[in-house]
Amino acid sequence: MTRTLFVGGNFKMNGDLATLSKLVHQFNDADVDVESAEVVIAPPALYILPLKELCRKGIEVAAQNAHQLPAGAYTGEISLNQLKDIGLNWVILGHSERRTIFHETDELVAEKTAASLKAGVKVIFCIGETLEEREGNKTEQVLDRQVEALAKVIDEQSWEHIVVAYEPVWAIGTGKVATPEQAQDTHKHIREFIAKRVSQKVADDVRIIYGGSVNGKNSKELCSQPDIDGALVGGASLKPEFVDIIRSAE
Ligand code: G3P
Repeated sequence: MTRTLFVGGNFKMNGDLATLSKLVHQFNDADVDVESAEVVIAPPALYILPLKELCRKGIEVAAQNAHQLPAGAYTGEISLNQLKDIGLNWVILGHSERRTIFHETDELVAEKTAASLKAGVKVIFCIGETLEEREGNKTEQVLDRQVEALAKVIDEQSWEHIVVAYEPVWAIGTGKVATPEQAQDTHKHIREFIAKRVSQKVADDVRIIYGGSVNGKNSKELCSQPDIDGALVGGASLKPEFVDIIRSAE
């Protein structure tokens, strides 16, 4: 079994049309082997369409969130059907900023994920523990709970449309990256839990990527760990350095 490496760039609520367009041109012009890694960028919703037009073949665009219902009176929200309508194939769901700041529960994230698969949109499903949880030796318990919520609502076949992003909350935007050993141990645990809870086949096939202060310098070592299948990058995806991260997956 080979798992194609996956590199995601989460722009969060950063940038404007001019700077993000320039960035996409830089990614387009970079000499990278687009066959060796799947590359997906997630701009703020407003810029999805113009940037999607700019991206060369091999760079896809994701939304950073979506509503679980197909349509209705939900001012300010975007539905998964609407994402599909404009040709989007990916959405990030359950990012820790959504879970913490916008109070998204495990159940809601799982419900959104199931709705997304039903709409034909693949999911970068984020999980991760806080510093307090890690220090209280609760990391595995928290991750199991987050994955369990999803396993309850999707069937075995659906896992092929999921990329799990392990993002320890304490490593996001802090410059405090998990060591390759720490990240590998946790990824291995997630894979073992999926093997137990879903199936060995799904565990072997599903991509589990790492997020949290990934940059052009640390990405190679992280991505070369046996259970780390790529990276979800925040800050460094807003810089030409993102190209080095893609290259580290080659
Ligand atoms: O989704 C990516 C993310 O939360 C990591 O952010 O800035 O630590 O790379 P950053």
